[in-house]
Amino acid sequence: MEPLGLRAVGSHCSLSEMDDLDLTRALDKPRLKIERKRSFDERSMSELSAGYGRHDGLYDSPRGRSVLDTPLSSARNCFEPHPMMAEAWEALRRSMVFFRGHPVGTLAAVDNTTDEVLNYDQVFVRDFVPSALAFLMNGESDIVKHFLLKTLQLQDSEKRVDRFKLGKGVMPASFKVRHDPVREMDHLVADFGETAIGRVAPVDSGFWWIILLRAYTKSTGDLTLSETPECQKGIKLILSLCLAEGFDTFPTLLCADGCSMIDRRMGVYGYPIEIQALFYMALRCALSMLKPDGDGRECIEKITKRLHALSFHMRNYFWLDHHQLNDIYRYKTEEYSHTAVNKFNVMPDSIPEWVFDFMPLRGGYFVGNVGPAHMDFRWFALGNCVSILSSLATPDQSMAIMDLLEHRWAELVGEMPLKICYPCLEGHEWRIITGCDPKNTRWSYHNGGSWPVLLWQLTAACIKTGRPQIARRAVDLIESRLHRDCWPEYYDGKLGRYVGKQARKYQTWSIAGYLVAKMLLEDPSHIGMISLEEDKLMKPVIKRSASWPQL
Ligand code: GLC
Repeated sequence: MEPLGLRAVGSHCSLSEMDDLDLTRALDKPRLKIERKRSFDERSMSELSAGYGRHDGLYDSPRGRSVLDTPLSSARNCFEPHPMMAEAWEALRRSMVFFRGHPVGTLAAVDNTTDEVLNYDQVFVRDFVPSALAFLMNGESDIVKHFLLKTLQLQDSEKRVDRFKLGKGVMPASFKVRHDPVREMDHLVADFGETAIGRVAPVDSGFWWIILLRAYTKSTGDLTLSETPECQKGIKLILSLCLAEGFDTFPTLLCADGCSMIDRRMGVYGYPIEIQALFYMALRCALSMLKPDGDGRECIEKITKRLHALSFHMRNYFWLDHHQLNDIYRYKTEEYSHTAVNKFNVMPDSIPEWVFDFMPLRGGYFVGNVGPAHMDFRWFALGNCVSILSSLATPDQSMAIMDLLEHRWAELVGEMPLKICYPCLEGHEWRIITGCDPKNTRWSYHNGGSWPVLLWQLTAACIKTGRPQIARRAVDLIESRLHRDCWPEYYDGKLGRYVGKQARKYQTWSIAGYLVAKMLLEDPSHIGMISLEEDKLMKPVIKRSASWPQL
């Protein structure tokens, strides 16, 4: 077979411009057609009110691969797989956790070089996502199914912090399998934030769970899981936490600091981009899986309305490019009534100096946070990549984000993909905003540190926007160091040149993120698992943009 997979998207054309047939032809793979009843995925937003494309379809690419020890992806490869791939698969398998004989997840890290385990010996929901995608891409869906079912059972348990009970829908941040040697029995112990540093519940866990359920369904073609009453209930419980009416005046979700991947105080309270992008993606994934029966119909209606309000709000108020920055710079303040231009009363004086130099003439991004008199101008990688994958970003905005990455490669990627946020907080700001956190000193950890796990999200965004050459450049950087450095959790420094001060080694999501990125580049049709196409009815023309030449 010809190495068509890479070439097929090696141009500047968006995947959305190619239909599934094109991809199938390009990859020269037979595609199974399965008889099915009308899918909820097909019941797209367009029918409900606005309209999304058919790449959302859950059933168009079932991949019933057998469970093999050797990764199918590299076995099928027509060019020599990088030696790191085999090492990565071995390390990923070493991190697998079993519950009563079944694989249920992967440990956050298997670092034998330190005694300081903390909670890295647990299965984190967010950390398992790249592991799950790697397994799915390799045709091993069992572990993902068991993970989804076990975490769903955990959702049912009572959660308390001191005397306060958490919402029913909250999903755990992590769990652990304990073995009782007397009764010879495994049991699960979950953490919903009640033992986490800072005692914050993970808002992202539930969203990742829904996103993963769709990825599983899309990848396997197995409808039976998402259609069970248990999964349907689980989805509704998660969303009931977010869709309840209250005092909110914005469609974005109000959050506490530290409720997502950045799980320490970093000034990401309020309306952080990471949560808003995951929220949007989870809503769209839920819409594709919910049955319109009983309270399902009501939930579907609420989701549809929220999606419209949320996309409008995000695309208008979170978007920043040269033009928008100039407008904010010239904003009047203290405007009253509906005619206000500066709706949130952002003070132009609060625009940080760095952003004026940072902003290229072509390019843009979703800022970190927007709230009353508050705009966090920092760049956050995860939120921007998920905005592309979920099509929260319009095609033009997606292209602009990629343009920014190219223009600001030194700042956002440097020598190790990818900075979690940019720039870092220092001095007085660091003291006030992080509360003097010694783990989050400048250019370290969550404060401008470089996280290899983000490679999979970058790669997926690159493939979706038809710019895989950007991802290849990032993969090259990873391949020059990650294995040699024993797969660290994060890197420090302005360029990401140093292994992180307190970084774990053999961090599972660094390993799995690399595998997912490689498999995506090798077979871009995998993108359907973790990407949703834009709303076709509102689709603006994609403008071609200059990009690096093929590397
Ligand atoms: C750190 C990270 C968090 C991750 C956890 C386990 O706390 O901030 O995002 O889930 O480690 O790897």
